[in-house]
Amino acid sequence: MTVNTPDSAPAPTLSPFTRRTALAVGGLTVATVAAACGSDTTPTSTTPATGGSSAASGGTELAKVADIPDGGSLVVGQVLLARTGEAVVGHSVVCTHAGCPVQAAGANADCNCHGSQYNATTGAVLKGPATQPLAEVAVTVKDGAVLQA
Ligand code: FES
Repeated sequence: MTVNTPDSAPAPTLSPFTRRTALAVGGLTVATVAAACGSDTTPTSTTPATGGSSAASGGTELAKVADIPDGGSLVVGQVLLARTGEAVVGHSVVCTHAGCPVQAAGANADCNCHGSQYNATTGAVLKGPATQPLAEVAVTVKDGAVLQA
């Protein structure tokens, strides 16, 4: 879109409808992206998060290992945690199909938007339409706490 300033030659006149349409489309796009990305302040887990504190070791505590079912998963904010024994791995909750947040479902993670399913431990796609695995999120375990780097 051309910006008309007092020093520049007049830009071709756009009808008010065209300008309104452009603004409306822009606003709708922002709202859609914001909705698809979810909110950073709304956990998608039904289990209260213990996260948010910054551990002295340099990571943000997301949860206690004991909060995650052994062999299962837990969503804390934007991170899907999966536990096997005392080992915990993390993946992004953002579905690789169209960006909806996935939900913890035992050993798997489900996307309710279009039905994709992932292995919570590896992030691999078990069922489409998604074709790419969930992005990894680096986490460490220290003193029974899961820390995000
Ligand atoms: S956004 Fe997850 S399946 Fe479409």
